[in-house]
Amino acid sequence: MAIDTSEIKTVEHDVLIVGAGGAGLSAAISASKEGVRVGLVCKSLLGKAHTVMAEGGMAAALANVDQRDHWKIHFRDTMRGGKFLNVWRMAELHAKYAPSRVRELEEWGAVFDRTHDGLINQRNFGGHRYPRLAHVGDRTGLEMIRALQDHGIHQGIDIHMECTALDLLKDAEGNISGIVCMYRETGQFIIFRSKAIIFATGGGGKAWEITSNSWEYTGDGYAMAYEAGAKLMDIEFNQFHPTGMVWPPSVKGTLVTEGVRGEGGILKNSEGNRFMFDYIPEKFASETADTEEEAARWLAGDKDARRPPELLTRDVVARAINAEVKAGRGSKHGGAYLDIATQRAEEDIKRKLPSMYHQFKVLAELDITKEPMEVGPTCHYFMGGIQVNADTTMSNLPGLFACGECAAGMHGANRLGGNSLSDLLVFGDLSGKGASDYAKKLNAMPAVNEEDITRIIRNATNILNRESGKNPYLLHEELQDNMQKNVSIIRNKADLETGIANLEKLKSDYKEIKAPGASQFNPGWHEALGMRNLLITSEAVARAAHMREESRGAHTREDFPGEQEEWFKYNIILSKGADGNMQVEKVERPKPEPELERIARLELEELEAEVAAETGVTA
Ligand code: FUM
Repeated sequence: MAIDTSEIKTVEHDVLIVGAGGAGLSAAISASKEGVRVGLVCKSLLGKAHTVMAEGGMAAALANVDQRDHWKIHFRDTMRGGKFLNVWRMAELHAKYAPSRVRELEEWGAVFDRTHDGLINQRNFGGHRYPRLAHVGDRTGLEMIRALQDHGIHQGIDIHMECTALDLLKDAEGNISGIVCMYRETGQFIIFRSKAIIFATGGGGKAWEITSNSWEYTGDGYAMAYEAGAKLMDIEFNQFHPTGMVWPPSVKGTLVTEGVRGEGGILKNSEGNRFMFDYIPEKFASETADTEEEAARWLAGDKDARRPPELLTRDVVARAINAEVKAGRGSKHGGAYLDIATQRAEEDIKRKLPSMYHQFKVLAELDITKEPMEVGPTCHYFMGGIQVNADTTMSNLPGLFACGECAAGMHGANRLGGNSLSDLLVFGDLSGKGASDYAKKLNAMPAVNEEDITRIIRNATNILNRESGKNPYLLHEELQDNMQKNVSIIRNKADLETGIANLEKLKSDYKEIKAPGASQFNPGWHEALGMRNLLITSEAVARAAHMREESRGAHTREDFPGEQEEWFKYNIILSKGADGNMQVEKVERPKPEPELERIARLELEELEAEVAAETGVTA
């Protein structure tokens, strides 16, 4: 029986944004400044976004705390953090424009911590040469969302909350023409027709058992884009943030900000050893303190002291904690001890890390001003995602744009902490402009296909209308167990093959998924809808991880240790084949612009001298 689509509410926009975290809100503000009709769809309530989990700050070479900072040094740090797999142009745009975007956010009302001179204060974070993270205690992401929301609601943006996007619509020529969504509360479907759509849908951390992500992060953008024919790139690079809570079980994975280490927190094993000194990779040796005395000088504000090894990049710290636990030197509940209590005065901890103080007090009954925290790696962030053009953020599908975590390229193989909030501001803004420019060039709204709408709605309602079937919550648990065991922080061929075989079984079980009850606020149905996206995302991660036979950044293959020069030349691209199966290809990367490559590969001292000669700032 055909669905009478004329009975379904239809709304039109020039630019529709899906996702209302930092990237989505920035994109919406930017598009609305361009004078187009803007809609914003969010799965949750406005303001509830994973952006708030970037607590420690947003990285931008403002040079407020150390005047020697410069976009070129930020760019170099970012490329090296990403193990040179970043899209060069994206890293350039990010480093150049992050300072102006942060200042703009301040103009829109974000209340940053201040230096004694009244400038935006900046703190140290892993992999950043200078104190670079503009912050608001340990609530920076929250403040960013608050400021963007406050500014955005006065821009005439049409907001649809608690509205789940199901799948994209295209016209006969393959241009994006809309998206079918469902209001979670009523179960009613809605068709958005739009000339351009921006995905700002975040990541897919809910595929793993231990994650800092909340329920919304089910890889929706990756899966919807993939189903519509978009290309996914380098999705094997999943960041395990080194410090998630490990105890009690109900809050396992909850983020413990890198800001704790930025403020001087140190990591110890069960034998009381500050083990990170044993894990300094050769290539970081010249930039990292190798004694406790040197690290203490850094904490005391000596600008020439080298960074403590706790502030090595996240991949290095996460692997080190993992190795200590494996060697039997883990903390009581299987992590490491993170100690700020012996490093900073009680009032400093409460002032600079109020959320951490509160979080541990309430959730773990532990006073971090007196005792060490227990922490361990938690799935936090996707570096890979939808492949986009660096300047416009458009994907290979005309009219589909992506920014923020769901877009690939900016962070390469590993993201530096703090680079995500600035990424959201820079690429959210570019996305809004790119999509508006595209939409303005179209004379008419592209057509939607009635059969596609029927198919999308049927796929969703079949889950309710089956007589019986698989329980979505149990399938989700099986998926998380599989990803945690087989596609985790340390990978190998055999585990990945087991993981892929398990995913095939789960995909087949998914065909029988059943949510009992009606369509009005039905969490089991919502869970089942998210499962489709999680399965596509997980398969993409597992297949790409299987293909990349090297260890680079956040992707560690114990059967292929170390970076392979050969693999530096390739991105892994995934797309849906004509036979409906996932295609995985090794695709040669475009050559970098020589000047960018020169900057990124220069020795630090040489680049610092070059920047000093350019700016006249030497200390
Ligand atoms: O540790 C943190 O505050 C997280 C920051 C980030 O992911 O950028």
